[in-house]
Amino acid sequence: MRIGVLTSGGDCPGLNAVIRALVRVVERVHGGTVIGFRNGFRGVLNDESEVLDVARCRGILPRGGTIIGTSREQPYTQPDGVERVRSAIDRHALDGLVVVGGEGSLSCAADLVGDGVPCVGIPKTIDNDVVGTELTFGFDTAVSICSAAIDRLHTTAEAHDRVMIVEVMGRHVGHIALRAGIAGGATMVLVPEVPFDIAEIASSLRRRHAGSSFASIVVVAEGAVPAAGGLVVPDYEVDEFNHQRLGGISSVLAEAIEERIGIETRVTMLGHVQRGGTPTAFDRVLATRFGAAAADAAAAGSWGSMVGLQSDRIVEVPLSEVARRRKTIDLDVYERVARPFFAS
Ligand code: F6P
Repeated sequence: MRIGVLTSGGDCPGLNAVIRALVRVVERVHGGTVIGFRNGFRGVLNDESEVLDVARCRGILPRGGTIIGTSREQPYTQPDGVERVRSAIDRHALDGLVVVGGEGSLSCAADLVGDGVPCVGIPKTIDNDVVGTELTFGFDTAVSICSAAIDRLHTTAEAHDRVMIVEVMGRHVGHIALRAGIAGGATMVLVPEVPFDIAEIASSLRRRHAGSSFASIVVVAEGAVPAAGGLVVPDYEVDEFNHQRLGGISSVLAEAIEERIGIETRVTMLGHVQRGGTPTAFDRVLATRFGAAAADAAAAGSWGSMVGLQSDRIVEVPLSEVARRRKTIDLDVYERVARPFFAS
C-alpha cells in the first residue's frame, strides 16, 4: 500500500500526532509507505513531497504545527487542478490520499472522490464545526488555552472593576466560546449562532455592576454578529483565498459598552495563541486514534469516507455527508448553561 497525506487549511495542535500514527500503522501494520505532500494541496499540485517513515516522525507527538506544512490552496481553484492531483497520484503510484482538513478541505476531498480520486478524510479544526464527528482534535487544546486565559483575566478585572472582553476563534460557530466561557465562569458568551443584542448586554452589565459584583468577563467568538439594527461589524480584509481575516468584534463591543454604561471595558484577543503549542493529552489521543483509523480505512479500501468520533468510538462517515455542512453549538446548552449568567 502507498498513500499520500496532506494537512490542509489552518493548522491545529495534534496534526503531527495524526501524521505519526498514520505513518506507524501504514508502515508497521500494513507494510506500506506514506508520502507527505508539503503545504496542503499546493504540494500535490506542484509535486513537493517527501517520504514519511517512522524515523522521520520520531519526537513529533507533542509538537504543535505540522511537519509537512499547510495552506488553504485547493485544486478546484485551478483549471487543471484535478488533472495535476491525478498526475501526482500516478507519479508516486499511490492508492489514494489522506486529507487532514476542516470543512473546506473535506468538501474538496468529497469532490475529488466524485471525480474518481480516492481520498480518506480526517477532521481537523480548533473550531470543532465538522459534522459526522462529535469532536475534532485541536478543539480541546484551544478550549484549555482560552479557559486558562479567562482565569487570569478574572483577577485583573476584579482589581480594576472592569469589563473584560475576550475574543476567541470561531468563524461560523461558537463551540470554543461556549465551552471556554462555561469553564472559565464567564459572565456572558456571544456566539455566531445567536445574534447578540447590545442593548440587552449593556443593561445586564449595568445591573451587575450596580450590585455587589465588581467585574465581568464577556467571551465573544470572532464570528459573533449583532442583531439587525445593532452595531456595525468591522470591515474585514480577505486573504488570497478569499478568506475573511476576522478579528475585531471585541473592540466594537467594548466601545459600545463603555458608551452606554460608562464602565471601563478592555479587550483581549487570543488569536493564534489558541492554535499554537503542544496539544493536550486528550487531543494527542484523539489525533492518534484518527491517524490509525485512517490508515486502516485506506488499507481496507474505504475511499470516500472520513473517520470520526461518535460515542467514544471511531466510525467511518461518507465524505459526501460531511461536505459543505457545519456542526453548530447545542442551543439547549447555550440557553440553559450560558444564558442564565447574563442577567445575574
Ligand atoms: O478555521 C480555523 C480558524 O482557526 C478559525 O477559527 C479562524 O477564523 C481561522 O482559522 C483563522 O485563519 P488564519 O490563520 O488563516 O487567519
